[in-house]
Amino acid sequence: MPALWNTTLGRRMNSIEGVNTYTIVPMVMADLGNNERRMLKAMLDDPDTVWKLSDLLEACEWKDQAHVAGAGLGLEEAGLLEINEIPSRHISLGTEGRKAVEHGLLESRLFEWLLERDSSQRTMRELSSNFEKSESGPGIGLLKKLGIEISKGTLIIPEDSKSIQRIISERQSFISKLSDGGIDAQKLDEEMISAFKIRKNIIEIVDSVSRTWKLTPKGMNSDVSSLDESKLIVDLTPEMLQTDEWKNSEFKRYDVNLPAPTPAGGRPHPMQSLIQRIRAIFLEMGFSEIEGDFVRTAGWNMDSLFIPQTHPARAMQDTFYLDNPESMPIDEKWLNLWADVHENGGDTGSTGWGGSFDRMEAQKGLLRTHTTVNTVHHLAENPDQPCRVFGIGRVFRQEAIDKSHLPEFHQIEGIIHEPEASLPMLVTTLKTFYAKMGYPDVRVRPAYFPYTEPSLEIEVKWRGMWLELGGAGIFRPEVTEPLGTEWPVCAWGMGLERLAMLVLGMDDIRELYLPDLQKLRSMPII
Ligand code: PHE
Repeated sequence: MPALWNTTLGRRMNSIEGVNTYTIVPMVMADLGNNERRMLKAMLDDPDTVWKLSDLLEACEWKDQAHVAGAGLGLEEAGLLEINEIPSRHISLGTEGRKAVEHGLLESRLFEWLLERDSSQRTMRELSSNFEKSESGPGIGLLKKLGIEISKGTLIIPEDSKSIQRIISERQSFISKLSDGGIDAQKLDEEMISAFKIRKNIIEIVDSVSRTWKLTPKGMNSDVSSLDESKLIVDLTPEMLQTDEWKNSEFKRYDVNLPAPTPAGGRPHPMQSLIQRIRAIFLEMGFSEIEGDFVRTAGWNMDSLFIPQTHPARAMQDTFYLDNPESMPIDEKWLNLWADVHENGGDTGSTGWGGSFDRMEAQKGLLRTHTTVNTVHHLAENPDQPCRVFGIGRVFRQEAIDKSHLPEFHQIEGIIHEPEASLPMLVTTLKTFYAKMGYPDVRVRPAYFPYTEPSLEIEVKWRGMWLELGGAGIFRPEVTEPLGTEWPVCAWGMGLERLAMLVLGMDDIRELYLPDLQKLRSMPII
């Protein structure tokens, strides 16, 4: 079995059936890194000393304590020195503690207050009206622990009030002791520390470890002459190869099998990468990109799409209507056309939804609930130009957040508007898109949308299951007639986050947007 050397730490790593094990092995001086050589040499100037961090930093002319820690570990593993760790605990005052030094601990103030009045006035009610709620609540707890009883709303001080006073003054003096910037825990009463530890912000505890370094007999006997720092070559450059210089140089040795931290370089958010990839696919398929605003009118978001004004999805509990702008004017021309198709079907041959079309309703401001508002608006502006356009954009719906719902998410929207546009063309386009995304198994099933006929649901096979990823269809005449378009329109809208869950292999949609850098860094590169 090959043994690999890590020159700095003197470890040998064996690989047993893929499991890495580490064995500490004796190290020869030549295997010491420069930092280790420097530190050992410095220590040999005074071989019996127990070295402190500051002395080692000075002796080695280092500024960074990480050098001492790192080289120290290497030398320890080589059996050349011993590291002694001394844990210490420093106690200082917290924000409440500082207040307590100035104004007295809560129990001390409460107890004094009790002593100042006759026993009949020591009621809970009196106490609550003299102290803030944030103090009276916890305060009563403290008094009870000190032996004060409460009977029928009255606080009763026991006979032996002196001992309560003594405990309180001991606590107070403990706190005052800390007022000069804190003390080493060893010098303090441990019981007191644990009692104050559970109270909020009175004391602060900082645990630390200080280390000392001392040569072992083996370290003391090291041969100083072998400890000169060598110029280790890290990178072999083309320039070096042109001369013979490299032949006599010492190379830094690497053990590529040692565990190392993954460098945290920057990377785009996975959702951004996914959007770029989808964009690239549609562009490659000959589509152009369109965009639109988040704030729209109910008219363009819904009425233009022949969504009845009584449709449940239009209700406040599903859609974010805005106070500002509460409404936005829509050209009369559109309102008239929509009123016609909604009320009686206009020139489409349809009977419409009946009832009377509410123009105020149509002009209400809202956050778009789907990106179909962009494609329909694009058609209204370019009724006589064939087009293939797509857009990826954010939409908003009043949804309770759970593992598969977010109130803000993205849709991948698109249309094909041209003389030959047809259902097979629509299905092929969607299948091609998903195949390019890496999901060749796609099926469509009948569905219903008020604005398409026929309407489809698009499903993709993932880990043996069919998952619904979006809707599609051919725009109904009630949608296209008022817009003045001449040709059929294939339309679709698909969920981006659902697709992201497949691509990134996660089952909780919320994870996509958590600011968890660790997780984001480890997500697959898209
Ligand atoms: N707008 C639909 C949705 O939000 C999707 C869709 C778009 C359906 C275009 C048909 C045509 O789910």
